[in-house]
Amino acid sequence: MKSETVIASAPAKVILFGEHFVVYGKPAIAVAIDRRVYVKVGIREDRKLYIRSLSLEISGYFQNEKFFLESGKESAEEKFEPIRVVAEKLLEASNKDVGVTIEIDSQIPVAAGLGSSASVAAATATALNHLLNAELSREEIFRVTFEAEKLIHGTPSGIDPAIATYGGAIVYRKDEGFQPMNIEFSVPLIVGDTGLERSTGSLVAHVKQIRNAYPEIVNSIFEAGEKIVEKAVQALKEGDLEVLGRLMLINHGLLFAIGVSHEKLDKLVHAALRAGAYGAKLTGAGGGGCMIAIAPSKLVDQVISSIEQAGGTAFPAKINVEGARIEN
Ligand code: PMV
Repeated sequence: MKSETVIASAPAKVILFGEHFVVYGKPAIAVAIDRRVYVKVGIREDRKLYIRSLSLEISGYFQNEKFFLESGKESAEEKFEPIRVVAEKLLEASNKDVGVTIEIDSQIPVAAGLGSSASVAAATATALNHLLNAELSREEIFRVTFEAEKLIHGTPSGIDPAIATYGGAIVYRKDEGFQPMNIEFSVPLIVGDTGLERSTGSLVAHVKQIRNAYPEIVNSIFEAGEKIVEKAVQALKEGDLEVLGRLMLINHGLLFAIGVSHEKLDKLVHAALRAGAYGAKLTGAGGGGCMIAIAPSKLVDQVISSIEQAGGTAFPAKINVEGARIEN
């Protein structure tokens, strides 16, 4: 067992195509982007499971099944619950009867559609795996991260844990797992944030409701989503940014149709198009959170300022970055 602290990180993700439909077995394309969460872990002799989030300004510890808040809001226990699950799985796998300190420092906006909860879980599992010599494979780290994600919303597809753990770019299907994708040219991608926090769980529940009410209509929307992904895979192989942009807009329209867009998301999508983007769409669960746009390289700055003038914040994102990894 190592006495030092271990730092691990995991990337944020954007779903390029297929969110929500992926919960119903359709394919989706996700890429890891160059915003990361950093998790520092260390051993404690007092057997507490102490957690501190620098970004959320909350801290507290679990001891004998109870949570004790140290600082920040009452909702800390709920936020820390998935991390507790990860830590307990790793302690169990390593057969060690110790406490741990877990400190989270994130560059990923929370509840914004960039998969921050899965990134925290994947980075925590990776750091503890190293600290406790638990010898979990990457596949097992993915499984643990997936279990944690299930606590956040009941029926996750698994796409967030997969991209946080493995990084890169993937085509994901719930029942078949993922296929890594080679994207050989640069995709000038912009992420715009509405700044509106929302819950993935309630948006997923909303889609379920609307599908139950109008199964034939909604199922054919899901079918259309699948066709979009097939064409997008081809366009990504060929580097056809114009086609990708058009497909993004169709995908945004389908997400709007099932009620997961938001006035502000639509506004940022229009702002990006006005500035010359090839296409734009919401990303992740919607209802607020983030949108993405693809633009000709020379227009990236213009697209960013147009999104900002429309009331969002925006940044260029590098895609295809490494998955969960040890930093020290
Ligand atoms: O908004 P995020 O980062 O939680 O992504 C949710 C993606 C969904 O497809 C809506 C749900 C899922 O589990 O795949």
